[in-house]
Amino acid sequence: MNINSNGYVLGFAVVVCVAMSAALAITANALKPIQDAAAEFDRQKNVMTAAGLVVEGDPRPRAELEQLYADRVVERVVDVTTGEVDAKLKPADVAAMRKPEDRARYRVVAVAKDAQGNDEVFVLPISGKGLWSTLYGYLALEKDADTVRGITFYKHGETPGLGGEVDNPNWKAKWPGKTILDGAQLVGVAVKKGVVDAAIPREKAHMVDGLSGATITCNGVTKLVKADLEAFKPYLAKFWKK
Ligand SMILES: Cc1cc2nc3c(=O)[nH]c(=O)nc-3n(C[C@H](O)[C@H](O)[C@H](O)COP(=O)(O)O)c2cc1C
Repeated sequence: MNINSNGYVLGFAVVVCVAMSAALAITANALKPIQDAAAEFDRQKNVMTAAGLVVEGDPRPRAELEQLYADRVVERVVDVTTGEVDAKLKPADVAAMRKPEDRARYRVVAVAKDAQGNDEVFVLPISGKGLWSTLYGYLALEKDADTVRGITFYKHGETPGLGGEVDNPNWKAKWPGKTILDGAQLVGVAVKKGVVDAAIPREKAHMVDGLSGATITCNGVTKLVKADLEAFKPYLAKFWKK
């Protein structure tokens, strides 16, 4: 066999390509369930971080944190047109919905329970545009459905050091205690350009400091928080003090 012939070289290249592609495809397929499980665990950790059940970088082993989620968090499907929980639908049903009107109508809320099994924290999924990307995260509200417990973002493509500072624990620490209601009006929480003036009650209650050099991302966060709170309003209103 002439191993220097064009036919041999071409054939060799084809065999190597096919073998490598097959190996890659098999590996990717084999790893998919592991990757999906890791992504789901990451999501659960974010829900619990927003809810204050775990701290950032909690050192407990994965199995323990997964058990904590199973014990303390329930996910409910809310029909946001009425604010009612739809007990017949599961979060997976919502994830599988394809029609835009269904996706807008049904949202999943994660509810963290206290030791007695009462609703303690409502964790709402939030998402919207920043500068470069869509940011995905969670906003957690206390049982009054008014006071912020925490915020996390688990996926975005903003610039590290600029818009990416939405992940900075020091910035996220500015959110707990802010309120989304001004009297009976839903105002949300706005990210201010600059530093909040604590002497101004409206700023102290409903604003957090901006991230310098990242005003576009910050404005995006203000908008997405308000839009998703508006979407959940019929549900949240059931918990607001009359
Ligand atoms: C390479 C590059 C990356 C940037 N990334 C972001 C970003 O992630 N988020 C953001 O709001 N602004 C980003 N900016 C800056 C915006 O263009 C804009 O100047 C900024 O949002 C204005 O914020 P400031 O008024 O606080 O300076 C980036 C700019 C450059 C040149």
